[in-house]
Amino acid sequence: MTDEYAESAEFIDILISPFWNDLGPALSAAIKATDPGAGPVVDVGAGSGCGTLAIGDALPDAEIFAVEPSAGLRTALLARINAHESLRERVTVLPEGFLEADLPDQLSLVVAMNVIGHFAPNERRAIWALLAKRLAPGGRAVLNLQPPSEPTEIPEAVASAGHIGRRRYECRARAEPAGDQLLTWHMTYRTYQGEQVVDERKLSYAWHLVTEPLLREELAESGLRLHALEPADLGIFAIAREQA
Ligand SMILES: C[S@@+](CC[C@H](N)C(=O)[O-])C[C@H]1O[C@@H](n2cnc3c(N)ncnc32)[C@H](O)[C@@H]1O
Repeated sequence: MTDEYAESAEFIDILISPFWNDLGPALSAAIKATDPGAGPVVDVGAGSGCGTLAIGDALPDAEIFAVEPSAGLRTALLARINAHESLRERVTVLPEGFLEADLPDQLSLVVAMNVIGHFAPNERRAIWALLAKRLAPGGRAVLNLQPPSEPTEIPEAVASAGHIGRRRYECRARAEPAGDQLLTWHMTYRTYQGEQVVDERKLSYAWHLVTEPLLREELAESGLRLHALEPADLGIFAIAREQA
């Protein structure tokens, strides 16, 4: 599969961490009732591991599979895991895509934060089928839906910024419709020293849009149900089997 993060991987941890200030506590609250005895946990598209760390802290007895296909992001992920003794023994990093990864037959929890738009509709349906088959009784999946939900033009704006030492890192994003339920995100990653831009990378990727009603409909076809979680502005949802 194409590594859509090859150009941006070195900047992602700096620029996605601020979002985890709110996402981390919300995810921890959403997953704290997980029974790790029912099976391992999967972090889908673990990135640099902000979510993996939150899962590890919330569920100190859980075995975790962190699935991350981007080599650059996997480097950051492995470094984060290696830096935390509490994670080193129980987190396995898999380099395949989620649908290609060799995962255990029964899972207590599947977490998919900031990632579902990378999957095309047919891939989403494969994910729902996997959940219907492998979620343990009482098990859940937790994911978020990010705006927009409709294919609209989004003018360029600074999406995130952070600094390390004398340098400031900035991510600018703009989007344009690319189909019925598809956007193209155009990203610019800039590094500044003072006012001077010392590095600039540009990349684009496809993002499949999913509304809550569409998600609910797709899940129902696979015998799964959807619950919106608090706080509502984060767009976090739990998915469970109908009979769970
Ligand atoms: C926006 S990043 C989010 C990273 C992390 N979940 C977070 O929120 O900090 C999206 C991640 O999904 C990963 N990804 C893309 N396609 C994937 C696939 N088919 N299976 C698993 N992960 C995938 C990317 O490599 C990237 O790490």
